[in-house]
Amino acid sequence: MALTLKVNGTSHTVDVEAETPLLWVLRDTIGLTGTKYGCGIAKCGACTVHIDGQAARSCNTKVSDAVGKTITTIEGLSTDSKHPVQVAWADIGVPQCGYCQSGQIMAAAALLSKNKKPTDADIDAEMDGNMCRCGTYLRIRAAIHRAAELAAR
Ligand code: FES
Ligand code: FES
Repeated sequence: MALTLKVNGTSHTVDVEAETPLLWVLRDTIGLTGTKYGCGIAKCGACTVHIDGQAARSCNTKVSDAVGKTITTIEGLSTDSKHPVQVAWADIGVPQCGYCQSGQIMAAAALLSKNKKPTDADIDAEMDGNMCRCGTYLRIRAAIHRAAELAAR
């Protein structure tokens, strides 16, 4: 069926089954491959995007449930890679293999949009569902504090 999605400010009309996971449509139909597949069961966070400004797992979001909503992927977080989270990630050198990182960045950006100065406990609680097999958690925490400082300038 034809569905229209608004992704990163652009409308895309796609011909897919209503039950298709949003993740597959973003990656395979629209071609935005920055959002990653990890577990497929909402347990790892690799597929995190924003839906109406909230962090959401695109692997367990039916594409039909995203119609009429504003979807943002890592490609649309900023036009120049200068979102405070992206700058902080580069400053701190967070990624190791990188696979989980677009999901981590999207989750961190969603956290900072609702909590301008999160504590370690806030960060740990919010980021708990975003797994990193490389164990970059301490750098992620440091980078979120750094991003909060940058955003406050
Ligand atoms: S791929 Fe969606 S949470 Fe793991
Ligand atoms: S940087 Fe390798 S899984 Fe997170």
